[in-house]
This record gives sequence, structure tokens and C-alpha cells, in this order.
Amino acid sequence: MKPDTENMQPFGFDILVFDELESTNLFVVENEEMNALPEGTVVWAKRQTAGIGQSGNSWSSEAGKNLTFSIVLRPDFLAVQSQFELHKVLSVAVWNTLHEIMPQRDDIKIKWPNDIYVGTKKICGMLVNNIVAGNNYRLAVAGIGLNVNQTAFDPSLPNPTSLKNLTGDDFELFNILQKLLHNVVLWYDILKNNYLQKINKEYFANMLDFGERKNYRYRNAEIQATITGVDKFGRLQLQTADKQSLVCDIKEVQFII
Ligand code: BTN
Repeated sequence: MKPDTENMQPFGFDILVFDELESTNLFVVENEEMNALPEGTVVWAKRQTAGIGQSGNSWSSEAGKNLTFSIVLRPDFLAVQSQFELHKVLSVAVWNTLHEIMPQRDDIKIKWPNDIYVGTKKICGMLVNNIVAGNNYRLAVAGIGLNVNQTAFDPSLPNPTSLKNLTGDDFELFNILQKLLHNVVLWYDILKNNYLQKINKEYFANMLDFGERKNYRYRNAEIQATITGVDKFGRLQLQTADKQSLVCDIKEVQFII
């Protein structure tokens, strides 16, 4: 879906390109000390030597083949407690970009909380680092790792895929980055304008397993449940087969894919 473009004040992107960094998220956080990076700055590393994933995992990505970058955001219009809205916006922006590239596929899905899957395979992971001062946002570092031209992955990784694996084509990384940034600006602006309904509509319409009875691992037991939503703190809401309502954080629930 294309969002309305009225009332848009997109920020320009200064793209800082590095051959190698430990982690683009870490680079932004460290430079924040010097307050040197304006909103909209993008830090792109062709190779990360210590890429950071969710839940203390690492993010591995073959040098020069994929997109690993972070966007500097300063969502001072957003209550800190509503930070999952930002995650939704990023997911929707990546989803739209992948849908533009592979319009024939109907199995591109947003996997709660921060992944994009195609079928049963993960193509993109996101990590947002927030720096807050009291109740106010100082900085949100939106880190995105999108697998583009890599075709062989470490066997220890769970179900990875890439644009090249899915389409057989090689992609120009900068071109994909531009498409992604374009969509991030559109959806970030929709958030800025507080059109939360529009964001929710797009997020849940494309969310993996939304409204479908599936098996999950919940607190070490396997359960059958249906995703009914995400609460305002970003926790996954499930209804079990026996009509119990559960609200889960990322440590409590795993998808069984
Ligand atoms: C995950 O799925 O575990 C999240 C992966 C996030 C990876 C990106 S790559 C760019 C940015 N820099 C990092 O160190 N991590 C994020």
C-alpha cells in the first residue's frame, strides 16, 4: 500500500559509507556522545565485524553482499512507552520495499517483533537501540540487516534467505538502500502525524500468523494459540485454544516454524 504523501516533511539522508565497522548501531550510539549525527543520518557498513542481533545474538553477514545499516532517528514526538510504534513503522517500510521488489509473492510477512520472513525463511532482522532521558527520546538507532546477494549461509543460522536466493537475481545494494530509505521516510512521517490506525492496518495485514491457530513454545511448553494483536508495550497477545488470553514478551514465546 502507498501511504498518502500530504503533510510530509521528509528528512534528507546523509549516508555515511564505511568499508568496515564493528557494528553500525554501536557506531551511532558511540558517536551520540558527541551529538554529531543529525536525524536522518544513515551509517552503512559494507562489512560488520561484530554485528549485533536481538537478544544478545550476533548478526552475521557476508562482506559486501548485503545491507547492514543504521538510521539515526529522534522521535521526540513519541512517548517512550510507545516505542514499539517505531518497530512497526520499520517493519512496514521493509515489508513494502520487499513487496515492491517481489510483487508476485504473497508470503512476505512481518514476524513479530522485528523480522521479515519470506515463507519459512528470514530475510531481514531489525534492532532498535533507544537512548532516553527521563520520559523523552534522545535517540533511536534503527539498525536493519537485509540479506541481498548472499547465497550461502552459516548452517548454524535458523532458516536464512536472501533476495538472490529467492529471485535468482543480483541486486545493486545502493539501489535497494534508496528504496528502503524512501519507505522509511514515508512511514516515519505517518507515525509523526499520529496516523496509528493506518500503521496498524498495514502491520497486522502483513503479520505472520495473525489470526491463525498455530503452535508456539510458551514458557517451555508447546501450546496452540492464535495471535490477536500486540499491546502498547509491544508484547504479543495470544489467545489459547481454551480461550485464555496471554501477553508475552520476546523471552516467553517462540514461533515454531
Ligand atoms: C536480529 O534479527 O537479530 C536483528 C539483526 C539486526 C542487524 C542489524 S545489521 C545493521 C545494524 N547493526 C548491527 O550491529 N545490527 C543491526
